[in-house]
Amino acid sequence: MYDFDSPIDRTKTDSLKWKSTGACRSAAYPDVIPMWVADMDFATPPEVVEEMKRRAGHPIYGYSAEPEALYAAYTRWMRDRYGQGVEREWLSFSPGIVPAIATAIRAFTERGDGVAITPPVYHPFKKLIEKNGRAVVEAPLVDRGGRYEFDFGALDAACAKARLLVLCSPHNPIGRVWSRDELLAVAEIAERRDVIVVADEIHADLVFAPARVEPALGLGERLRKRLVSAWAPSKTFNIAGLQASVIVVPDEGLRAAFALESEATGLGGPNCMATAAAATAYERCGPWLDEALAYMRGNYEALVGGLSARAPALKVYPLEGTYLAWIDFRGAGLSGDVGGELVERAGLWLDAGTRFGSGGSGFARLNLGCSRAVVETAADRLAEAFG
Ligand SMILES: Cc1ncc(COP(=O)(O)O)c(C=O)c1O
Repeated sequence: MYDFDSPIDRTKTDSLKWKSTGACRSAAYPDVIPMWVADMDFATPPEVVEEMKRRAGHPIYGYSAEPEALYAAYTRWMRDRYGQGVEREWLSFSPGIVPAIATAIRAFTERGDGVAITPPVYHPFKKLIEKNGRAVVEAPLVDRGGRYEFDFGALDAACAKARLLVLCSPHNPIGRVWSRDELLAVAEIAERRDVIVVADEIHADLVFAPARVEPALGLGERLRKRLVSAWAPSKTFNIAGLQASVIVVPDEGLRAAFALESEATGLGGPNCMATAAAATAYERCGPWLDEALAYMRGNYEALVGGLSARAPALKVYPLEGTYLAWIDFRGAGLSGDVGGELVERAGLWLDAGTRFGSGGSGFARLNLGCSRAVVETAADRLAEAFG
């Protein structure tokens, strides 16, 4: 049994989530609770902490070579957890998925080309496209009866104007785990429209049964010829600050173009602490993840249970994957960027839905990677403010 209940003070660690919240003031509460950026307030698995201490005990922190132990651990993880075969030569290391997506955009598109996204979606996608001088082409998701789906007509039209699609699977912030059929339909459009698919699968390990993740790598040989699949232990095991991710490019030609663009940035080899932690996490921390998932499912239920009777105007979407609850505040009369109002009235810092682009007005995203007591307090505050 791991401990997810005991609070851990992060205020003196330069934590992005906690540091910026220190400057936040609420009219209603003396403290503002940070429930925004997607890392967990849980201790990283003890096996990883031990490995970090062991590695730190070796007094030389020089340059690292290719992280073979991490590649082997990741390959085993994919085989054992998902039945997904991965070849060693498909793999490369990146400090993050965001820089890998930027690299793919530069490698596979030209300035002015269209890059498709499906908002509301993780906000850096749009920024990366714009900052690299490419055109954002949106195929917004549709809410069908309280569950988001792809609008395949809109996606087809967007891909007709794009050379690359950034697919978020599972989807942050709306919590969907795309089914195999949905992903096969996306793959069919990508093939027909001849677009490269960059699958951001950073949340793929964070899935609640009966939902089942379908790694993009398993969707068939034809998709693999146009696929960059980005995985990371960062969200899964709460080691995002260490910066380690694994980029999988099965096609040799795409891999060479991706590597060339990576080289152009001058980015060096991996951080020696990051690879040690990441390899240990994949090798030994599956049981920790299973407990963390069960705990966060309980957090989601506590949130829904705490709001359904007391603040029925707030609608919490079903959570199939990610530990991020997507909440519709429009029934309580809110619209646009709701972030300031939530700080002011409920003493909670959530990510305003507007950050995630089209379809985010009147919504907010709440991070469930924290102790149950914090989720219960958040539900109490929301009920008090909007009940
Ligand atoms: C969908 C998605 N992609 C990427 C990231 C961040 O990736 P990285 O820190 O590896 O650059 C996040 C973090 O919240 C995310 O939700």
